[in-house]
Amino acid sequence: MGSKFSGKNPPELLVDQFSRTISYLRLSITDRCNLRCIYCQPKKIEETVPHWKSVEILQHRDLLTYEELLHFASVAVSMGMDKIRLTGGEPLVRRGILNFIRSLNNLEGLKQIRLTTNGVLLPELAEPLFQAGIRHLNISLDTLKPEKFARITGRDLFHTVWQGIQIAKNLGFQVKLNVVAMRGINDDEFRDFAHLALQEPLQVRFIEFMPVGEQAGWDKKDFISASEIQSLIMQEGTLTPQKGQRSEGPARVFSLTDREGRQGSVGFISPISHHFCDSCNRLRLTSEGRLRSCLLSDQETDIREILRSGGTDDDLRSAIRLTIMTKKKGHAMQEGPDSIAQAPCHGRMSRIGG
Ligand code: 5AD
Ligand code: SF4
Repeated sequence: MGSKFSGKNPPELLVDQFSRTISYLRLSITDRCNLRCIYCQPKKIEETVPHWKSVEILQHRDLLTYEELLHFASVAVSMGMDKIRLTGGEPLVRRGILNFIRSLNNLEGLKQIRLTTNGVLLPELAEPLFQAGIRHLNISLDTLKPEKFARITGRDLFHTVWQGIQIAKNLGFQVKLNVVAMRGINDDEFRDFAHLALQEPLQVRFIEFMPVGEQAGWDKKDFISASEIQSLIMQEGTLTPQKGQRSEGPARVFSLTDREGRQGSVGFISPISHHFCDSCNRLRLTSEGRLRSCLLSDQETDIREILRSGGTDDDLRSAIRLTIMTKKKGHAMQEGPDSIAQAPCHGRMSRIGG
């Protein structure tokens, strides 16, 4: 897929009040998920399994249909957004996703479609995803221990996910592993993840645990800053910043080199200790069809309403411009974890899509 604006109307540049060019759209295509991660779904670790069925999900009619998603995406792409990431919930549980990806692929001007997944369905879907044109996968994996995986996610599926990662890698996907860093839960494994980055052709990215969603189990004591993680990783080797990071979004990416000369790629995403709002280039569409200019702010524009009340492409364009014009300079957690009294964002992660 390439950028090929053969048409007469070149896209406008979407630039916000703080000179940030907005070019990246995250679409949460479903709030449903086949896992119940402790930091995403509103339960504490001990309660994950018994409360499996208690998580509220949206009715089908509340989700945007694929036609509506495609309509919105085509308008956004025609305005200059050239990269789309599909998220969830778990995007692969929504039926018809492969056809949806194929339709997105036909949008003129769209350069990349990427996917964030928990990996559970990759053993079946990695190959058709590759055929549908996806080349980049972010796979969530917070532990390398099967028993702990079951405690964090509520399901005993470590081996399935691991198999999915291997298949994806062998097919030629560029794989990034997302590790949410939680003190007392997986901080004993960060060095093992660094080893993995040295051994396998994949990037390991540590994400600071964020307070998202009213009841999600965030507590200051669970938080570990990226710099603390970084110093643990430095016991495994030297970290050298990688150049040409524009495509890396908010991650600060380093080459890790160990004493034997092996190299790997490690990233740190630090929304709390080191905010990256200055270079934020994204908008998010929630699974209910609300457009958000920031993960950590509840300000939303109701796109579903526009789509379902007969709104025109111009109405959609105005809504996108308005959302961009009201995009704030930064989020409310810039002073670090001590300043956070409560979650600054009350939306559910499974509807916003990370
Ligand atoms: N803090 C940090 N990362 C989170 N994710 C989900 N919830 C949180 C949270 N509260 C991660 C998931 C996934 C990505 C989209 O966001 O692990 O990899
Ligand atoms: Fe599902 Fe992702 Fe939420 Fe885990 S973090 S429950 S995999 S949506």
